[in-house]
Amino acid sequence: MAPLLAQKPVVADIYCIFLCLGLLLCLIRCSKAQTVPALYVFGDSLADVGNNNYLPLSIVKADYPHNGIDYPGKKITGRFSNGKNAADFIAEQLGIPSAPPYLSQPNNVFLKGVSFASGGAGIFNATEGGILEQVISLAKQVTHFSTVRGKLLQELGSISAEEHLAKSLFPIIIGSNDILGHFKSASNYKTSPQQYIALMLSTLQQIMKGLHGLGARKFLFIGLPPLGCSPKQRSLGNNTDECNEQLNFWSNEYNQGFKQMLQQLELELNNFHYSYFDTYTVFLNFIHNPAAYGLKEIKSACCGLGKLRAQVPCTPISQYCSNRSEYLFWDFYHPTEAAARSFVDIVFSGSGGHVSPITVQQLIAI
Ligand SMILES: *[C@@H]1O[C@H](CO)[C@@H](O)[C@H](O)[C@H]1NC(C)=O
Ligand SMILES: *[C@@H]1O[C@H](CO)[C@@H](O)[C@H](O)[C@H]1NC(C)=O
Ligand SMILES: *[C@@H]1O[C@H](CO)[C@@H](O)[C@H](O)[C@H]1NC(C)=O
Repeated sequence: MAPLLAQKPVVADIYCIFLCLGLLLCLIRCSKAQTVPALYVFGDSLADVGNNNYLPLSIVKADYPHNGIDYPGKKITGRFSNGKNAADFIAEQLGIPSAPPYLSQPNNVFLKGVSFASGGAGIFNATEGGILEQVISLAKQVTHFSTVRGKLLQELGSISAEEHLAKSLFPIIIGSNDILGHFKSASNYKTSPQQYIALMLSTLQQIMKGLHGLGARKFLFIGLPPLGCSPKQRSLGNNTDECNEQLNFWSNEYNQGFKQMLQQLELELNNFHYSYFDTYTVFLNFIHNPAAYGLKEIKSACCGLGKLRAQVPCTPISQYCSNRSEYLFWDFYHPTEAAARSFVDIVFSGSGGHVSPITVQQLIAI
């Protein structure tokens, strides 16, 4: 009898240790999840979750097949993807719901966050497309945020609302359309690429100051990919599928200036905190070593028509590949769901020095 009795407390101790450990882990996890109450997402088609569906005159839309073919329920949501996009995976990593499109319920309070991102949007208002609003430019997205903030202040009171915003995360995914727009038209060469990029950055800087002035404190900035390696740009080359090195050069120049501009903002503004993700390097890693990321096809789009399935965008009459998870690109410019998930995994893993000056975990913990 005695040995049996003696064993009982040991077993109980082990149970207790497991219980306490579990409790501790849960406490750490729970408190982490609670530190990001909401996501306020700004950007272009890499992050749009359906805002452009609500712009009647816009032609920049993805609300038709084969987009959404791998989304739960094969739902066509307006995402420029076969499934979910980077904004969804950022939310997933934080354990909060995907931010819904602002224009789906413009009168909502959006306590859990909202997305202002719009396909085709850029830093410059010119990306709006003139009198007939085709896309929601970044400046306009901030105007919409200001409206949401007003509702939050009414709902929570000013102190709680400011606290809520200060803890929330503001992902910013923008700039590709400005760069592509500049190099599309030869007439734009009146401005040198250097001048153009400098103006992009000073405009972005002003807009970010405005956002900080409205209570945003924690930013996640996503750098530009090597834009010249998109299927569309590869398809424009002379009989080769090579990347457009000029576009890559200027994408990288922009990113270098971007990092400097963010350092300035951090010095200038109180409580301006950010993580910057080096999309450019990670993208090149995907291209140079696809197998390491579970990919096989990094040049051709999955959905589209013509050379590299990139001469005609993804429409109901386009062809599409059967194994989407092996493709880096869904269509002529946008990554597949699988690639977007891998990118966001790397953003949150903080490994490889691709996130600076602090990791997203450090950013959240501030
Ligand atoms: C861009 O649009 C915003 C409003 O959406 C406006 O406040 C700003 O002055 C415009 N910028 C320029 C350079 O026209
Ligand atoms: C294609 O070839 C023409 C003529 O040789 C050249 O001027 C042009 O730069 C080339 N385009 C690209 C994208 O390489
Ligand atoms: C699709 O690709 C993935 C990753 O390479 C692989 O695991 C899977 O078996 C493939 N599925 C089909 C149907 O080919």
